[in-house]
Amino acid sequence: VLPLIRRYADRARDLLDPQIVDYIEQGSGEEVSLSEAVLAWQRLRLRPHALVDVSHVDTGITLLGITLAAPVIAGPTAAHGLVHPDAEIATAQGVHAAGSLMTVSTRASAPIEQIAAELPDGWWFQVYLTREPKAAHGAALRAARAGARALVLTGDTPYLGRKSRVGRLTALNTHTGMINLGRHLPPSSDPAWALEQDPAATEHAITDLTELTGLPVLVKGVLRGDDAERFLAAGAAGVIVSNHGGRQLDQAISTADALPEVAAAVAGRVPVLVDGGIRSGVHVLAALAFGASAVLLGRPLVWALAADGADGVRDTLLALHDDLGHCMALAGVTCCAAANPSLLGFAAAPVRKYARELLTDHERRQ
Ligand SMILES: Cc1cc2nc3c(=O)[nH]c(=O)nc-3n(C[C@H](O)[C@H](O)[C@H](O)COP(=O)(O)O)c2cc1C
Repeated sequence: VLPLIRRYADRARDLLDPQIVDYIEQGSGEEVSLSEAVLAWQRLRLRPHALVDVSHVDTGITLLGITLAAPVIAGPTAAHGLVHPDAEIATAQGVHAAGSLMTVSTRASAPIEQIAAELPDGWWFQVYLTREPKAAHGAALRAARAGARALVLTGDTPYLGRKSRVGRLTALNTHTGMINLGRHLPPSSDPAWALEQDPAATEHAITDLTELTGLPVLVKGVLRGDDAERFLAAGAAGVIVSNHGGRQLDQAISTADALPEVAAAVAGRVPVLVDGGIRSGVHVLAALAFGASAVLLGRPLVWALAADGADGVRDTLLALHDDLGHCMALAGVTCCAAANPSLLGFAAAPVRKYARELLTDHERRQ
């Protein structure tokens, strides 16, 4: 784990109300998935190249038409107003200053348009399908009008995962929902019900959102290759391997273990992204080696925002960018596209089979 990420997390824990610390930190159930997230990346072993000219290492990528300095972006996290008075406005300023990409949560504490004003180079908007479809659809259309370049449809949240550290923040879902969704509710509806996630949502939502907004739709919360196939068939422009930071189904597979299967199923047709427990450049490099195009950060940017506002967000992204470049050089990899499964030592038994398939696929395409 990068020392800066650790420092900001410690600082944030000191500064924030313990209930808010719990809200950010917690996982669902017995927090098994949460506790394994970072370890799953740390279990992987790499096979670096020796004697390669790494005097120039390029961490840049292009992701669905957006050019980025590094394959590290801000994932959607709700309610930044809980940790900083400038909320997502400050997060957006930090992300922009780092040349990264922000995924704005449906449950942001600031209006979409105000956040968008800080993100002139493009941003993504995360969608939760609500029981009242007018709410989610209205916000998605507004995001498209305000310059969102893609939608991220969160698919792993038919109901909120049960958490043991709940406390007084249980009403947060409705409260944050009102800021960007409330205005699209029919006057007669009960917000507490209408803004809940729709448990009947299926992959048809991918087609609906694409037709409604004209934007590419990525699906977040994919942990299986067959699901990735189903979402691609419905028109998904990308998939995000995620177990929601261990906040939905407890004992859901770690994303480091799920990524090879999903990447093998997608086979380069659309970008595959991954989040959960990514805390250092070597974790990012391992994700790229498995076939990910980029990674998303959740908690590290919330801690950074709490501890040091926009500067904290910027510095965390830049530190990870720098660490990735350093690790690429030590691994003999000069650009992101050159990171392939041959870099992986296959030390982790559960991933061995899929990593081998991926390697064969990679070699076939050479
Ligand atoms: C405080 C918090 C709020 C979150 N809010 C959302 C959200 O609004 N929408 C969403 O799709 N995912 C949300 N997530 C999940 C993150 O996008 C991401 O999947 C996860 O945090 C990544 O793991 P990491 O925190 O280990 O980096 C949230 C996670 C946290 C910790």
